[in-house]
Amino acid sequence: MKNYIDLIEQTFEFPTREFGVDEKNTLLFNNVPLMDIIRQYGTPLKLTYLPKIEEHIEHARLLFRNAMKKFNYKGSYTYCYCTKSSHFQFILEEVLSNNCHLETSSAYDIAIIRELYRQEKLTKNTFIICNGYKLPQYQKYITNLINDGFNCIPVLDNLKEIDYYIENTHAETVNLAIRIATDEEPNFSFYTSRLGIRYSDIMDLFKNKIEPNPKLKLKMLHFFINSGIKDNAYYWSELTRFMFKYCEMKKVCPDLDSIDIGGGLPIQTSVFFKYDYQAMIDEIIENIQWICNKNNVPVPNILTEFGSYTVGESGAVIYKVIDKKQQNDRELWYMIDGSFITQLPDSWGIGQKYIMLPVNNWDLPYEKVNLGGLTCDSQDFYNTEAHSEDLYVPSFDIENEDQYIGFFHTGAYQESLGGYGGIQHCLIPAPKHVIVDLDEEGNITTRLFAPQQTHESMLQILGYGLEPKEGVNESANIQAQAQEEAAINEQEASVAEEQEK
Ligand SMILES: Cc1ncc(COP(=O)(O)O)c(C=O)c1O
Repeated sequence: MKNYIDLIEQTFEFPTREFGVDEKNTLLFNNVPLMDIIRQYGTPLKLTYLPKIEEHIEHARLLFRNAMKKFNYKGSYTYCYCTKSSHFQFILEEVLSNNCHLETSSAYDIAIIRELYRQEKLTKNTFIICNGYKLPQYQKYITNLINDGFNCIPVLDNLKEIDYYIENTHAETVNLAIRIATDEEPNFSFYTSRLGIRYSDIMDLFKNKIEPNPKLKLKMLHFFINSGIKDNAYYWSELTRFMFKYCEMKKVCPDLDSIDIGGGLPIQTSVFFKYDYQAMIDEIIENIQWICNKNNVPVPNILTEFGSYTVGESGAVIYKVIDKKQQNDRELWYMIDGSFITQLPDSWGIGQKYIMLPVNNWDLPYEKVNLGGLTCDSQDFYNTEAHSEDLYVPSFDIENEDQYIGFFHTGAYQESLGGYGGIQHCLIPAPKHVIVDLDEEGNITTRLFAPQQTHESMLQILGYGLEPKEGVNESANIQAQAQEEAAINEQEASVAEEQEK
């Protein structure tokens, strides 16, 4: 029987730019030796490879720069990050250090904006594009930002929202955007999206509420295609309809000079993934320009709010296989030390596929397996790949060997959906989270962002009133626990090394 590495080499072009295997037959992710991280921190663990974020931001900017140059496009391009994909401080700091702007979706986002401003990570010039259906608190916080001189643009999502800003803003100029409700994909349960304002109401909204009020400026139209930026008839017809509306509005509203085309730039969910990013962005720019020229309207500045594309490929989750269970002649289960339902909820909720690769034992034969999570829910499993109905993993000897597996490109939405540090199915704790970065010389550095969630934190949430140990603050507790775990891992690693010798 062939080994796992043979299977991969005959199925994919391997190694890839991102994945490779070292001389010990263990996996490298962006040249990071994952077994070293496992030895140092243990599993289950979530990992963020920070340099990927900058790489993707720069890549998107390059795509737009190339396309705008190619078509001699006169507008500008602005990269915003959609915070809901991952709200973590280390992500936002990385994004902002690359001079990006932000898009928010909730009142609580504004608390993050205020904190980042306090820490001088963003300035009042940073665009804060406020999307979403807004409860009064969110409207109030947006208004406060505008009144305090932030470059904050509420994106009107319904016809009433504007009334609050008319009454409560006292800035000289209040810039506004309108989200246009797109039609959903033909196979969707609804015809028109509930998000945004219908096409036929936009001109009236402008004429009745914005134009007569000298402080209000309609600067931008916004649209977002839920299924992403795809080269299909649906995407092009929605973009075309949107651009014709932009041109119609531009003719009556000289302040209008920008469009926000939302998120939806895809990421790699399989090693087979093929997507011609440059061709897609070229076509978007060409179409926008063509429609503007046809209508004798100057081309707009373009903003995007890429979420998945910014953070998705920076994330990975690594598990240990803790047991093999042969449940009938054909079905072999590899049990992992975590849970798909709680830690990778998209894999359970919408059948999302990720790149799954074993971290070690690439020189062993392989077998077809189902991966089983720790919760008692029968749906807590993963057993197919994006490109195939099967899932193969090295066939290791559980008595004498350890097997680790990784899920890659998991950096977007998984904590936003599954929660982080709360109460989850079967009280599965949030795993530890390690941040991997490169120092100035290009050496790999790692640091523990958070250890595995403690039972004390759960009992507190559940109302058992368990306080952290007296006289010891929470961060000291966390540090002590992390040190204890690192010591145990080091001990285990040296025992394993001894055994190898
Ligand atoms: C308004 C808006 N903008 C941007 C995004 C980000 O989308 P993606 O993560 O696909 O880039 C979303 C995602 O739901 C969204 O609703």
